[in-house]
Amino acid sequence: MKKFYVTTPIYYVNDVPHLGHAYTTIAADVLARYKRLKGYEVFFLTGTDEHGQKIEKSAKAKGMTPKELADSVVVNFKRLWERFDISYDHFIRTTDDYHEKVVQEIFQRLYDKGDIYLGEYEGWYCTPCESFWSKSQLVEEKHCPDCGRPVERLREKSYFFRLSAYQDKLLQFYEENPDFVLPEFRMNEVKAFVKQGLEDISISRTTFRWGVPVPFDDEHVIYVWFDALFNYISGVGYGIDDEKFKKFWPADVHIIGKDILRFHAIYWPAFLMAAGFELPKRVFAHGWWTVEGRKMSKSLRNVVDPNRLIDMYGADAVRYFLLREVPFGLDGDFSHKALIHRINGDLANDLGNLLYRVLTMTIKYAGGKVPAPTENRDTELEELAKKVLERVDEHLNRQAFNRALEAIWDLIRAANKYVDVKAPWALNKEDKKEELGNVLYNLLETLRLVGVMLYPFMPSKMGEMLAQLGCGSEPKEEDLNWGRIQVGAEVAKGKPLFPKVEEEKIVKEIEKEVAEVEKKEEAIPEISIEDFAKLNIIVAQVVEAERVPKTDKLLKLVVDTGTEKRTVVAGIGAHYKPEELVGKKVLYLSNLMPKKLRGIMSCGMILAASKGEELYLPVLPDDTPLGARLR
Ligand code: MSP
Repeated sequence: MKKFYVTTPIYYVNDVPHLGHAYTTIAADVLARYKRLKGYEVFFLTGTDEHGQKIEKSAKAKGMTPKELADSVVVNFKRLWERFDISYDHFIRTTDDYHEKVVQEIFQRLYDKGDIYLGEYEGWYCTPCESFWSKSQLVEEKHCPDCGRPVERLREKSYFFRLSAYQDKLLQFYEENPDFVLPEFRMNEVKAFVKQGLEDISISRTTFRWGVPVPFDDEHVIYVWFDALFNYISGVGYGIDDEKFKKFWPADVHIIGKDILRFHAIYWPAFLMAAGFELPKRVFAHGWWTVEGRKMSKSLRNVVDPNRLIDMYGADAVRYFLLREVPFGLDGDFSHKALIHRINGDLANDLGNLLYRVLTMTIKYAGGKVPAPTENRDTELEELAKKVLERVDEHLNRQAFNRALEAIWDLIRAANKYVDVKAPWALNKEDKKEELGNVLYNLLETLRLVGVMLYPFMPSKMGEMLAQLGCGSEPKEEDLNWGRIQVGAEVAKGKPLFPKVEEEKIVKEIEKEVAEVEKKEEAIPEISIEDFAKLNIIVAQVVEAERVPKTDKLLKLVVDTGTEKRTVVAGIGAHYKPEELVGKKVLYLSNLMPKKLRGIMSCGMILAASKGEELYLPVLPDDTPLGARLR
């Protein structure tokens, strides 16, 4: 039996679905659909990652339980996948009972065999990334190397996975399976990382509760990545439906983003080796999208909100663009302009017009029925089509979606040229009936094959196109051969398959939106921790205070920093009387460049919180030592 098992990452539920999620999922869907078309029995798994501190924190901030948060977000994911025609076979949630059972069973198994042991953990943890880092991996000593945010020091009892014992086995596995990770340069990164040496990893937590409990130790919950990765096993029936599991495991390809490669290419195979499972055949790490030339920040997300894109352009055009525009595996930029160019160029002009012209001619010159070809038929399109079928197969077997699409467009362009060269209208005029019939047959059959090859990419539009060509709208394996169009079948011209999009209006609108986001982001620019470290904000005590003559707002203060006394002019006179301030501990920015104000040299600045007309001095505990630095 030919089988194919493809997965997406399971998505965290602290976020609404965004373009990055859609990208991974659409890519996996195209593979699933292509393999089904090729006659494979396919299992396509996606789902959500619902445990961990990050989700617990998000839920708390929203005043919900983690499960309530997950339930509400899962609905959004499922709705979006429906709109994108994602043909998943199962949607797994890590809070599903059967999954939790599997995770516990495997944890227990690895503990019993000694691959998991209890130890003491002391290290650096990045909560947003749910990752531990060693000191040497940190950026500037205190920052996560992945996201740049500050890490937290954690010291706790923890169960460890003996990753160090798998270093050589992993390296040997990579040697024997050079295509395990694609693209190739990512395989090299993984190897280099493992060669540096692997330390055992902490795989349980005691500092929060939202996770799968360690089966034999109530105080610990299982590390979210250990829990999450095993979805690929539990989701395909392990422990519930053995027959299904045996049929589909190992996975043929895990589609993931480059940011989570380490977990999939190092931890995951090591966990599987330890638990005695076969290893997946491939992990494909795709690149990241920027948006209109900028990092996809939260505020920019609206510009590429997947639901909005579907409303604007239709699901299939978006599916096509994402896989056509950028080689899978590399980073790329998403712009509305580029998307519109693809729609108006590739889809409306090259493909849509070809279909429209060929159908119009078939109706005009052949009574709207697929004409019968004769022995004298030329075979240039047929030969090219056969080559393209092979190229598409090769490229899709290596997840090179853009190259598969390029190959299909070679055929579309050749067909367009063929129309011009053969000029059916002239053949009709000259009454060359046989050649005219052959030419139309070749074109209709080429279009049918194009429709079948593009079906996995644009299932809804290609279904329509095949129906217009008088074929069934759900192609099967045998339809991937030349000569399957039904002679005599009636064609039916519909409305244009891909209506042109008005570029100027949309691009202007989007530019305006992006400019607004930029303005907002510029007003409060993002700063690095180095920028922040430049501010020497310390606790100081006001020892003298008086009004600056002839002003309402300015006070002349003398503050004691613990090591020296400084004079500072502060604009808080409308809110505080001088005598109220003497003795107060305040936050003081000491390294601001000195400046003369009303003839007084002001050194530094007193910090206060303000909104509108209101102003508040932060209250510090009485025992805060002078000179203590805010960091
Ligand atoms: N829960 C983990 C995965 C566990 S798999 C056992 C996780 N979830 S996630 O929701 O944060 O991210 C899922 C995917 O979205 C990743 O593959 C990531 O690469 C992708 N993307 C997030 N932002 C992206 C872009 N800007 N561009 C393309 N994909 C990006 O990680």
